[in-house]
Amino acid sequence: MIWHAICLGLLFQLILVFGSNYPKNVNIWPMPESVELGNKTLFISKDFNLKTDASKYKDHSGILKDGFTRLLDVITSNNVIEYNFGKVDQSVLLQGIHVVILSEGDELQYGVDESYKLNIYPKGNPIYAHIEAATIYGALHALQTFSQLCHFNLNTRKLVRACGMYLGGQYRSFKICLLLPTLVGCKTYTSRHYQSLPMIKKVIDSMAYAKLIINLSRWRYLHSQDCGMVLIQSQNAIQWLLQLKFYAQRRGINVLAELDVPGHARSWGIGYPALWPSKTCQEPLDVSNDFTFKLINGVLSDFSKIFKYRFVHLGGDEVDTSCWNLTPRIRNWMKQKGLNESTAYEYFVLKAQKIALSHGYEVINWEETFNHFGNELDRKTVVHNWLGGGVAEQVVKAGLRCIVSNQDKWYLDHLNTDWQTFYMNEPLENITKPEQQKLVIGGEVCAWAEHIDVSDIEQTIWPRAAAAAERLWTVPDKLAKDPNDVTSRISNFRCLLNQRGVAAAPLNLSGRGAPTGPGSCYLQ
Ligand SMILES: *[C@@H]1O[C@H](CO)[C@@H](O)[C@H](O)[C@H]1NC(C)=O
Ligand SMILES: *[C@@H]1O[C@H](CO)[C@@H](O)[C@H](O)[C@H]1NC(C)=O
Ligand SMILES: *[C@@H]1O[C@H](CO)[C@@H](O)[C@H](O)[C@H]1NC(C)=O
Ligand SMILES: *[C@@H]1O[C@H](CO)[C@@H](O)[C@H](O)[C@H]1NC(C)=O
Ligand SMILES: *[C@@H]1O[C@H](CO)[C@@H](O)[C@H](O)[C@H]1NC(C)=O
Repeated sequence: MIWHAICLGLLFQLILVFGSNYPKNVNIWPMPESVELGNKTLFISKDFNLKTDASKYKDHSGILKDGFTRLLDVITSNNVIEYNFGKVDQSVLLQGIHVVILSEGDELQYGVDESYKLNIYPKGNPIYAHIEAATIYGALHALQTFSQLCHFNLNTRKLVRACGMYLGGQYRSFKICLLLPTLVGCKTYTSRHYQSLPMIKKVIDSMAYAKLIINLSRWRYLHSQDCGMVLIQSQNAIQWLLQLKFYAQRRGINVLAELDVPGHARSWGIGYPALWPSKTCQEPLDVSNDFTFKLINGVLSDFSKIFKYRFVHLGGDEVDTSCWNLTPRIRNWMKQKGLNESTAYEYFVLKAQKIALSHGYEVINWEETFNHFGNELDRKTVVHNWLGGGVAEQVVKAGLRCIVSNQDKWYLDHLNTDWQTFYMNEPLENITKPEQQKLVIGGEVCAWAEHIDVSDIEQTIWPRAAAAAERLWTVPDKLAKDPNDVTSRISNFRCLLNQRGVAAAPLNLSGRGAPTGPGSCYLQ
């Protein structure tokens, strides 16, 4: 009761007036394209509701309705108590949100318009916040922004602390966090660890909070250290994938499948030993065997029924071709074809690309393929950088598209890389020509499964992936030049994740650190 009284006593109308620059005390992460703050605090009505009249989108599959329910869940479980509100002016009750979506469809494809406009002003009777978005997915992001403006007070009413106008742009296409779950259905887990379905779902939820994984999220299948082929053969696994895809899609997150060939595919041979060069020399996949490509064709054909995303990832990284020369059968085949190890690698990758293209996909390949035979790659290839900085510059000069994931700055399993480094990694560094800038379609932070399992996946991803989320979401001129300028805002976001049950690690240390001692969440 005492708390109740104190907080009521402290509640007071909040007066915040800002110009077009980002107001320092608006704790939204990642920062929308523009924010214009009003000067009132609104109280959320007990029967806060969703209105959709005038919306073209009819929500037949309930994506918006579910998004709104999730919004209510997060704002009502929010247990942060704000002290500095002053007197309560409960006359300013916010009755709900009016969402207008301008297009009917709900296809989540590369290039989907995810921008939104969110207006929260104390106008009308009853008062509604207004969201306008081109697609349902923009509207979902607007709901995330709204949720971050909500606070709880002990008078049981939630309040929206900052009314105003929020415009969510969408600067870069590709904003990804990468997960590599070992697949359900495996009996033995080797060096890649199993991620449970509930945990993966939880990670998807947290990705939506950070609007990070807007365009897609990615799983890699059939990795050598997984028991990949089980997946393809088992109806259960397909059900599992469909379920995940469905779950992610309803949160505006796409799933990109990776079929990494010819390296990292040793496990394929557990089911099909003919894919190994020999029993003793098991990777890369046998380049000389037609069956290898038949199988790739079969898998991609299956993929194309499940994953409708424009791209498929064909890997192509870390290929040690020595088994090909060490296996007489393959050595002879290469000789007949006039190939050596290096040109056989090229032959393999290009052949796999053709198969993927024939299934309607555009292809993503790791940068090794570009480094070896960039000119030969299909022009629709997106080159995925990882080895280091400066690669995007080369790729776009060659006229190909690029995704940036330089491991020195954006690999989450590098535990001593701090969030400031994640924040400052600019994919367009040294790329100044607008037509070349356009070819950098975005970036990806990677969390490799050999270093994470259910026990530490969330701490490994958060909060550092959030730092990259702002880099990818926000237009460059609006990003802080000095990451320390946004410490308090990202710290707020980390605490918000914690409040929502996400085990985001303290900011203070690099990956997975524990709090250093007692003290507020905001100081860790
Ligand atoms: C608050 O904002 C409204 C509308 O933007 C404006 O008319 C009013 O003068 C502002 N009040 C204060 C106290 O700044
Ligand atoms: C998704 O990708 C498309 C294609 O580049 C891009 O136009 C769009 O802005 C992206 N959406 C977001 C939110 O990045
Ligand atoms: C492989 O063959 C190509 C083309 O004939 C040649 O340029 C390259 O140097 C060869 N590589 C090796 C490692 O022998
Ligand atoms: C950009 O150019 C500067 C100056 O040449 C260089 O020091 C830096 O390493 C480059 N950055 C990248 C990511 O290549
Ligand atoms: C980090 O820890 C140090 C002491 O260990 C403390 O002084 C500081 O306030 C903490 N928080 C941040 C965000 O640096």
